[in-house]
Amino acid sequence: MKANGTLYENVARRISGLIESGTWRAGDRIPSVRALSRELEVSISTTLEAYRLLEDQGFIDTKPQSGHYVKARCSADAAQRPRVARPPQDPTSVSVNELVMTILSEGHDPETVPLGAALPNPALLPARKLQRKISAVLRRRPEITCTYGMTAGDPELRTQIARRAVTAGCTLDKDEIVTTTGAQEALNLCLGATCKPGSLVAVESPIFYGILQMIEARALRAIEVATDAGEGISLAALDSVIKKNRISAVICMPNFNNPLGSLMPDEKKKDLVRLLGARGVPLIEDDIYGEIPHGLARPRAAKSYDTKDLVLWCSSFSKTLSPGCRVGWVSGGRFARAIEELKFASTLATNTLSQAAIAEFLAHGGYDHHLRGLRRAAAHQVGSVIQAVRRSFPAGTRIASPAGGFLVWVELPPDKDSLKLHRMAARAGISIAPGPIFSPRRRFRNCLRLSAFFWNERVDRAIDVLGQLAQRA
Ligand SMILES: Cc1ncc(COP(=O)(O)O)c(C=O)c1O
Repeated sequence: MKANGTLYENVARRISGLIESGTWRAGDRIPSVRALSRELEVSISTTLEAYRLLEDQGFIDTKPQSGHYVKARCSADAAQRPRVARPPQDPTSVSVNELVMTILSEGHDPETVPLGAALPNPALLPARKLQRKISAVLRRRPEITCTYGMTAGDPELRTQIARRAVTAGCTLDKDEIVTTTGAQEALNLCLGATCKPGSLVAVESPIFYGILQMIEARALRAIEVATDAGEGISLAALDSVIKKNRISAVICMPNFNNPLGSLMPDEKKKDLVRLLGARGVPLIEDDIYGEIPHGLARPRAAKSYDTKDLVLWCSSFSKTLSPGCRVGWVSGGRFARAIEELKFASTLATNTLSQAAIAEFLAHGGYDHHLRGLRRAAAHQVGSVIQAVRRSFPAGTRIASPAGGFLVWVELPPDKDSLKLHRMAARAGISIAPGPIFSPRRRFRNCLRLSAFFWNERVDRAIDVLGQLAQRA
């Protein structure tokens, strides 16, 4: 189905997107016509038309006097999810940097269809509002660009972050938070505080390439741990890795892992924190997508179960407000002091103007309202990308069904080569992120990650082209 259409088609697409992405599963009751009309601010008749279309398309069943239910065969099916990789359980050095830099350098061309790097779509971010906040800060505090900020960060911003932490189940004092130049610096500081050159870090498999680049730059070693596209890292595999090796830190994305989109259930997060706590291993939690669930409440952070101050919780505003402001943060538990010292030694302090503007936005900019829109867009766009892949890609392709974020992990049949597909796609003006950049050993040769930050007719067509190219890859 194409991106443009009548209002009822758009409503139907939004719902089918939520079903495709696994937010609603087989047998779930979807909202009543009246409730959905209210939520989406459309008329009852538009919603009725949309539900009729969804019935015709085989997505839902209507039970008289009862409601509308997701049909079994349409819900995200675990059997069609990408398979769990079984990485070798021994340490390895990491060398992905050159490959990553070559591949990502192509993604910035405005002519390229941007399905590769996870660059937020500016149209989904409140640029004008943020601009007004920047102007307001400059009017009120003209000296702000003429002073260094505190190393720990802007106190008002840290207060706002501590307030928002409650929605992730965390009770933090603002003094437990250090602001950073994006989540990238936060993660890097955590590695610096927990590891020395040669130390061993356990990572999810697959894992965000930026983390592998940090591990490589610090001359650390990595050990990959099997990770499921539905529920995240395998605790059994992690337990075994920890028993056999001296692990200095585990890096994990319990909420909407990049690239898999997996969401660890709360009980599993608790078990993860308990498992690591019992062995005194620090957990570096990357929660950058935690604020972008698809229509559900924000999931808890693993940090919320931390009773030993061993979880270093990192995030940023890059995916929700502004990647350009470069504002992130970390709550470092028992490593907080080391993190602050490293921050001083590396960048001294985070940009004062960006911090103040974001603090102002969080306090008075309608951040929650903005997040609601962003979450709806994420659910819709991810669902649309999944539908397009299903329509166009070779038989045997498996697709993750993320419950949050903007990323879609695709596993092609085993004989396919995503590095070859990447080269073919680049010639056709399409960027993708091939699987090998997500693994220290360059595994996942037949996998790729697609970004769903952008969705329009051009993207829809590009996925058709990718599907055809994948037949020959
Ligand atoms: C999982 C993950 N962690 C960290 C980062 C870095 O975030 P930031 O731009 O805030 O430095 C990214 C950016 O793409 C990411 O996807």
